[in-house]
Amino acid sequence: MTESVFLAGDSDWWRNAVVYQIYPRSFADSNGDGLGDIPGITSRVTYLSALGIDAVWLSPFYPSALADGGYDVADYRNVDPRLGTLADVDTMIAACHRHGIRVFVDIVPNHSSDLHEWFQAALSSPPGSPERERYIFREGRGESGELPPNDWVSHFGPTGWTRTTNSDGTPGQWYLHLFAPEQPDFNWDNPDVVEDFQKTIRFWSDRGVDGFRIDVAHALKKDMSEPYPSYPTLASYELENIPTDGSHHLFDRDDTIEIYRGWRQIFNSYDPPRVAVAEAAVHIERLNRYASSETLGQSFNFALFGAQWSARGYKAIIASSISQAKAHGSSSTWALSNHDVVRHSTRYGLPNGEDLNEWLLSEGTKPQLDRELGLARARAATMMLLALPGSTYLYQGEELGLFEVADLPAQSLQDPIWERADHTRKGRDGCRVPLPWESEGTSFGFGSAGSHLPQPSWFGALSAASQDGVTGSTLELYRTALRLRKDLSNSEQFEWVDSPSDVLHFSRADGWHSVTNFGTEAVALPSGELLLSSSPLSGKNLPANTTAWIRA
Ligand code: BGC
Repeated sequence: MTESVFLAGDSDWWRNAVVYQIYPRSFADSNGDGLGDIPGITSRVTYLSALGIDAVWLSPFYPSALADGGYDVADYRNVDPRLGTLADVDTMIAACHRHGIRVFVDIVPNHSSDLHEWFQAALSSPPGSPERERYIFREGRGESGELPPNDWVSHFGPTGWTRTTNSDGTPGQWYLHLFAPEQPDFNWDNPDVVEDFQKTIRFWSDRGVDGFRIDVAHALKKDMSEPYPSYPTLASYELENIPTDGSHHLFDRDDTIEIYRGWRQIFNSYDPPRVAVAEAAVHIERLNRYASSETLGQSFNFALFGAQWSARGYKAIIASSISQAKAHGSSSTWALSNHDVVRHSTRYGLPNGEDLNEWLLSEGTKPQLDRELGLARARAATMMLLALPGSTYLYQGEELGLFEVADLPAQSLQDPIWERADHTRKGRDGCRVPLPWESEGTSFGFGSAGSHLPQPSWFGALSAASQDGVTGSTLELYRTALRLRKDLSNSEQFEWVDSPSDVLHFSRADGWHSVTNFGTEAVALPSGELLLSSSPLSGKNLPANTTAWIRA
């Protein structure tokens, strides 16, 4: 490894970074096997650079049977051969760094794949063996252990326990999996697990990775003592049912952050220090435990995923996020989409409060999506977030204004949720359809063969090629917004400005203002030089569903 792979510079770079999430299997396919890959990412670094982002975050690209889109990791320090090699990753990191783009990778510490060598060793070792102690094995209840140890549900439904088979063919112990059965949960009280993840963090840091996104960061430590509490439905895992004192047996336990204190020492042993962002579904007053400078440094704020199109709702989320981040020395994080949720251009084109799963089950027909409205609001919301202090996390394809693909045929669905929930939850494939790079041709330029999830015909008109250089296109809006935003990145100054109730107006350093009209009627635009607007203005007025940036 040469020193040149490391991107030096300001150790606070992450505080106001724009981070672009790549879902590698759906980004760009270099070898025509229908799956996106690492060389595909390298081939698109100039696109990423022209977009103006500061960093990319790659969802898992490690060896995996894809029981959960790669979040079932069989080997944490290697690359899925279908996606490339370690050398390809080195080349990709170097290419990003040459363009000043930092690289985050995903760490999945709550569970491995059932194909991980440790889990395979555990299955072929007897109960009570050190191999089984790395995971969470328990005897079943009932006369011959035929019932699971307790009623805990899995996030993907139904039960969180699967029974093993002994080497002589008889039924054996059960193991815990909070997600799919192919994702056994680790036992984080075991020092082997602690040491192995420290090794993984060092491994990728040594290869020049700048940061880490930590999957399900709040679930690692569990209280497995009996009597077990009852967690029979997904409601038991919803935030409103998780106490704020760390006493839930599975989530947000106080000692979880001790793991991250250990990681922080590793992060800080690099120059510049490696950074991290927690995916932690915890109460806002406990976020600082994950986002402090002694632990992971930053934590996602997911409140906007569920936010209706309303000035009041947005204002409350923005205000609490900024004040929380300030209080513990972190910076806010903003995101409207990722690989787990319905794309925000679609959410905002459906009536407020629409049940998104029901809509997906209707294949996007009931009710009909209002694309024009959805895209206008999505563009306005993104521009507003890009004007706020803190980091913004973008999800691949949102810069093209892609909508959710709601009518994927049932036989093409890959998300384990679909089968495990007995076809009552459609799952997340609709936001993971491979990107359209070209307006026509095989898989719209994604690769030379097909794409692993079918692309709809309307992808062509939204492709990167169709929007490149087109004034007013969503791609050009993102490019311009990201370029202008660089003026703001050195200051976290922020102030609300009085405005009508349907309008959010705030100022930043150097006379910068952002104004968003959430209402249904145009409003007068405050005076100043217009820098950018998310939709064309009507004279001196800001139309409904539009954001404008002004320099006063
Ligand atoms: C990831 C999901 C994944 C789950 C289990 C989540 O938080 O974002 O895509 O299914 O963790 O690893």
